[in-house]
Amino acid sequence: MPWAQAGGANNTVLISGGTAGIGFEIAKLFSANGSKVIITGRDKDRLDKAVAQLKNTTGILSDVSNAADVDKLVTTIKQDFPELNIVINNAGRAQLYNLATAENIFDIAADEMLTNYLAVIRLNEKLLPILSAQKEAAIVNVSSVVAFVPGSLATYSASKAALHSYTQSLRFALTDQPNIKVFELMPPLVNTEFSQAIGGSNGIAPSVVAADFLDALENDVYEIRVGNTQTIYDLYLKSPAAAFAALNKGREINTIKGNAASANTISIPICTQSLLFRFSVSSGYLSYELSMISSIINLFTSKLQLNKGFQSRFGLIFFFKTLSDSPELCIFVGIKN
Ligand SMILES: NC(=O)c1ccc[n+]([C@@H]2O[C@H](COP(=O)([O-])OP(=O)(O)OC[C@H]3O[C@@H](n4cnc5c(N)ncnc54)[C@H](OP(=O)(O)O)[C@@H]3O)[C@@H](O)[C@H]2O)c1
Repeated sequence: MPWAQAGGANNTVLISGGTAGIGFEIAKLFSANGSKVIITGRDKDRLDKAVAQLKNTTGILSDVSNAADVDKLVTTIKQDFPELNIVINNAGRAQLYNLATAENIFDIAADEMLTNYLAVIRLNEKLLPILSAQKEAAIVNVSSVVAFVPGSLATYSASKAALHSYTQSLRFALTDQPNIKVFELMPPLVNTEFSQAIGGSNGIAPSVVAADFLDALENDVYEIRVGNTQTIYDLYLKSPAAAFAALNKGREINTIKGNAASANTISIPICTQSLLFRFSVSSGYLSYELSMISSIINLFTSKLQLNKGFQSRFGLIFFFKTLSDSPELCIFVGIKN
């Protein structure tokens, strides 16, 4: 049954990484609605400033990737917030580098896996006994559009794919405890500090993600595909290759050299505002089973100077998907500021 009061006043909500970006916007909504909010972060100044802007909010200095910090956090919650009923695993980490040429890739990947995946498992395990005791509770794991289609943040994408898989399994494992709902928030590119190296200024506002999230929480939408994530997901169901092409269109990752330190020198246009038109064509005589894309043809790419200071790039990709049941002609139009 939908949890209509999920965003209301009767909650105690823990948000990891709640001092900025998406986490902070979610904290704002819950605190404005009268819920008790606990936010964590690694930077004390940032934590204090965030808490000062929110009502009913407690800040706890805590790094999700540090086991001792997590133990202290859990002890504090048991003592001071035994009524905790919503856990939002939001803190995340990403590094932009070239898988083919960077150094220390193992270390980067291990770091991302720890923060984005293993830390979530650890915190959920430790907090589950508290959540089990509540009448209505939720675990929310923040993954990404790259959970099902990898983007240029290669090992970050893999960590979010792992989180997606784990989230599905956790939801399944908790079938016998219907008082605990498991949600996955899957944002597209969002304009936060986190995403600036990958063109984040073209992304949607974190407040939009927070509003969509609260709406989904109240309506039992367990996989929350915000904005362009839904478009890419729909395409992925039709053709994983086409979804990969759409998400990575225009990314010049082959020119990236060195490790993450060079990230801010890379320009990565992303089809965040891409529009997708699909036309089904009659399949009458196509009766054989051929489950592959027969051709992807980049027909036309041009740059148009529309007016001073504004430049758009139009790219069209046509392809036929020759499935016996539903052959299609797809046209993607990517429009990029
Ligand atoms: N922005 C995007 O385009 C985008 C898209 C899809 C998914 N996401 C996901 O959304 C989540 C939030 O991202 P965001 O864009 O809102 O990032 P953000 O604006 O950079 O904020 C990140 C927050 O997490 C905290 N944090 C970072 N590492 C932490 C750690 N190890 N332990 C505790 N807190 C930590 C940061 O504070 P301190 O640095 O002070 O610790 C900050 O409060 C991440 O999981 C990210 O993967 C983002």
